[in-house]
Amino acid sequence: MLQPSPALGSRTMPEDAAMSSANDPSSSSSSSSSARKDIVHVEVRLRPPHHHHSSYHSSDWQSHSVSQRVELFLRRNCVSVDCDARFEGKLWADCDPFLAERVESIRVAEAASGRLRVPIEECEFRVYEYETVNTVEELSAGDPEGQDEGQDLMAATVSELPSNSIDGTWETLIYGDDTKQRLLRYVQSTLLFSAMKVDFNVINWNRVVLLHGPPGTGKTSLCRALAHKLSIRMRHQFSHGKLVEINSHSLFSKWFSESGKLVQRLFALIDELVEDEKAFVVILIDEVESLTTARQAAASGTEPSDAVRVVNAVLTQLDRLKSRENVLIMTTSNISGSIDHAFIDRADIKQYIGLPPPAAIYWILRSCLDELMRAGVVAHEILYSWQTLDAGVGGGVDGQQLQQSDRDKRASWRLRALAESCQGLSARTLRKLPMLAYARYISASTSALPVGFDAFMDALQMSLADSLREAQHAAEGHAGTTAGSGPNGAGINGMMRS
Ligand SMILES: Nc1ncnc2c1ncn2[C@@H]1O[C@H](COP(=O)(O)OP(=O)(O)OP(=O)(O)O)[C@@H](O)[C@H]1O
Ligand SMILES: [Mg+2]
Repeated sequence: MLQPSPALGSRTMPEDAAMSSANDPSSSSSSSSSARKDIVHVEVRLRPPHHHHSSYHSSDWQSHSVSQRVELFLRRNCVSVDCDARFEGKLWADCDPFLAERVESIRVAEAASGRLRVPIEECEFRVYEYETVNTVEELSAGDPEGQDEGQDLMAATVSELPSNSIDGTWETLIYGDDTKQRLLRYVQSTLLFSAMKVDFNVINWNRVVLLHGPPGTGKTSLCRALAHKLSIRMRHQFSHGKLVEINSHSLFSKWFSESGKLVQRLFALIDELVEDEKAFVVILIDEVESLTTARQAAASGTEPSDAVRVVNAVLTQLDRLKSRENVLIMTTSNISGSIDHAFIDRADIKQYIGLPPPAAIYWILRSCLDELMRAGVVAHEILYSWQTLDAGVGGGVDGQQLQQSDRDKRASWRLRALAESCQGLSARTLRKLPMLAYARYISASTSALPVGFDAFMDALQMSLADSLREAQHAAEGHAGTTAGSGPNGAGINGMMRS
């Protein structure tokens, strides 16, 4: 049986979890003593089957018993659970052979109330078990008979869900508000409506979600992560998931635009996937602005109407799919102003994804530093959460008589100051900073590892200055030419000068 191991409570779980804490709706209602229940979602990643050595009652190997065992484990070991906390197998390696054999990791995802920490006696767990797979196929819409080169067009990739390569992405995406949870709730609600056979001619729903905003803010990643999460959460309804990623640009390659037939063929392949009612199919059309641009170019007479035919064919196909219960269409665009009305109209959920605010920047940089510390590249320092720093704001970084606890927070305050000067940079750029800092300002002078924390922060700071300068150059350069050309050409990324 499970042995009560030393309290896992606050030591192994991060004290902050998600950024959404800022608007914690339930913090005021914690006084209700009659243990109001809060649904807490728990995702359990199972070990691949060949890891089951069947030494432990193989007849017990049934999904519900894993869930029960996980719940028991949490109830016995935690006083409260923190959302976005992840437990690894080593925690139960010695104390629970049943879990040790079957469970790779346990992730406490979110609570229905939106709270970040829930006392164990208030938890009503919903446990989802999943195994990841690694299958990615390419859908080619080329002519099956014709052998012409160029006809074998790779128009989409199909990944089996839950996917090994996407697992964990959701947690690494940080926003300034509760974007992730809101999106998840929206989509789950619509899927519930579908399952309840609500007539979508009455209650309108086109199954289209649009995420738009500046480059590098995590739109594509969020679509993929959401697809992955939905496939985990909806196991009771669908046995597996597929993520079809359509390459918008390939639709406008010469071959595609010459033949609307290719679009038809592509969607015929998608239809085959959708036929399987046990499969939940997410179609991601990334960078839909390329469709829009094509339409506008044609409308102004600067381009042949082939492109319009392709766009219209795609829209027709999307409309056809809206009657399918097991389909979700996600689209992204990074030129927020110019998305086609045809798309805006169809999108039920339009979510703007903006640049990260300082607290989110802090969180992202902190996760980068934690990773470098874990890997032994940077010397260890404790980095507190933004909220923890806020709580002790009286001390401050320039306080004359720093208490011992404030001294512990010196590294955190330094990072916080850096985060505050990073405004205007995208999350993508932020995640690149540490590598560039090391390459440019540390690798040449020393190869000794780990690098001291402050030395690394100096390097980060200089690297940041480079990025901001580059961003400004790019902005000035753009101002002279046409605005908004090349979504990724903001120059922020190309900061490694030779
Ligand atoms: N909100 C975020 N929090 C943490 N990391 C992020 C976030 N957004 C982006 N990143 C990092 O930047 C990388 C690129 O993000 P992604 O490609 O999803 O951005 P995007 O919005 O689709 O950009 P684009 O508009 O250029 O296509 C991600 O792999 C991730 O490492
Ligand atoms: Mg993208």
